Amino acid sequence: LLGIGALGAAGGIGYWIRERQPDSPGLSFATPLRVPPLLDSEMIDGERVFRLNAQAGATELVPGVSSATMGFNGAHLGPTLRAAHGEKVRIHVTNELTVPTTAHWHGMVLPASQDGTAHQSISPTATWTAAWQIEQPAATLWYHPHPHGQTELQVSRGMAGLFLIDDEAPPGLPAEYGVDDVPLIIQDVTVQSGGQRPGTPTTTPIGRIGNTVIVNGTYEPHFVASTSLVRLRILNASAARCYNLELSTRDVFHLVGTDGGLLPAPVPLSQLLLSPAERAEVVITVPPDADLVLRSVPHDLGMSRGDNVTSGAEDTFGILRITRANDVTTSELPARLPAAAHPTRAAAVDRHFMLGDTTINGKSMDMVRIDTVIAAGSTETWLIENTSRRAHNFHIHGTQFIVNTENGESPAPRNRGWKDTIFIAPGSTAELTVPFSAYADPTTPYMYHCHMLWHEDQGMMAQYVLTNGKPAAAPLHNGDMHH
Ligand code: C2O
Ligand code: CU
Ligand code: CU
Repeated sequence: LLGIGALGAAGGIGYWIRERQPDSPGLSFATPLRVPPLLDSEMIDGERVFRLNAQAGATELVPGVSSATMGFNGAHLGPTLRAAHGEKVRIHVTNELTVPTTAHWHGMVLPASQDGTAHQSISPTATWTAAWQIEQPAATLWYHPHPHGQTELQVSRGMAGLFLIDDEAPPGLPAEYGVDDVPLIIQDVTVQSGGQRPGTPTTTPIGRIGNTVIVNGTYEPHFVASTSLVRLRILNASAARCYNLELSTRDVFHLVGTDGGLLPAPVPLSQLLLSPAERAEVVITVPPDADLVLRSVPHDLGMSRGDNVTSGAEDTFGILRITRANDVTTSELPARLPAAAHPTRAAAVDRHFMLGDTTINGKSMDMVRIDTVIAAGSTETWLIENTSRRAHNFHIHGTQFIVNTENGESPAPRNRGWKDTIFIAPGSTAELTVPFSAYADPTTPYMYHCHMLWHEDQGMMAQYVLTNGKPAAAPLHNGDMHH
């Protein structure tokens, strides 16, 4: 299945990376999978308090090649934050970079002023503090910067981490962090030989596609399972690349959670498409003597209806090698999971958004323009239509939504749970039921945008505010710098 040794013998690592996709025979997948550390917190006055420091440095993303990277509490990626449903959290974010950044809590339902967009920009040396109460169920969320026009650069250099929300879980669902409940932050990076980049990234109509795929910052990772059931919390933290995941054995695995939480019951799947920013919780069965690979296999992303260009999803490549240790404990996946009930679907569409090449309803992002005013606490039906010839996805801040239909039909199994980001192929539509929170704030906007980060940076983003019937105060300040 996996040849070993050719890489070492080849010597010129950069050559191999450029010329070979990571699934090639000759790649060893022998480096133990790193697991992002859980961030320590302190309980102060009833709040769980975390500290994050945005930092830059150099990291060997592939052995022997140093790349300029960015991270939180380190030079690449960030620690995992973990808090329980109902808890109050307070997070101090200090910017140790030389450029402004932000810390956005992707998927979190919280007041707009705590959301960490470009309206809560953090100047170099400054500390910004976000605080809110977690009122949503168990989920795999994440955090990343959201500086206006610079998101692709900062995220693809490594500024991304997980934010797990805990809640009552049924026995049998693997839950031991790093042991049988394993986060996989998948990113593609561009690495070239000869030490320090920058090299030339592959830019495409959907943005930057890297030439090397790493997991939790680990090149050619290997995970040794000590249980027969392993829950993988998968985050596509890539700027543009989509992954169509399957096991090299072609065995089915079970989808147990989507962006916003658990499904009512495990759903058997043999492939799973994940576009940038989407998460999936899957449980795989690792049989005795297993030596398998989680890999990405070709998916045309509906591009046959669009531009005939690379989308990053047309190759086959390995992502993670999984084997099983002898001392295996076995358990059984529960048949039922505690999913949050879906909202009632309304009869009529409230808003229609058309995705152009890099626009939403023909407009580009304007920090001082409010595009949509929504009654706090209301539930709306949104129709998203990709009228362009490019692949896009669509993310709404401050909420989790339900997908009613895709192209007028029942949504794909991967889209039947709570979502905050949905892939929308060229010429496709998705109808969403979107419940908005009661956090009215007519002067601080939330964003909705394409999460292919080059598109977002190009302005494929718009703003909404939640109000209590009052009109939005305008104009807004162009960024609200915290010094
Ligand atoms: Cu993942 Cu606007 O964000
Ligand atoms: Cu977000
Ligand atoms: Cu897009």
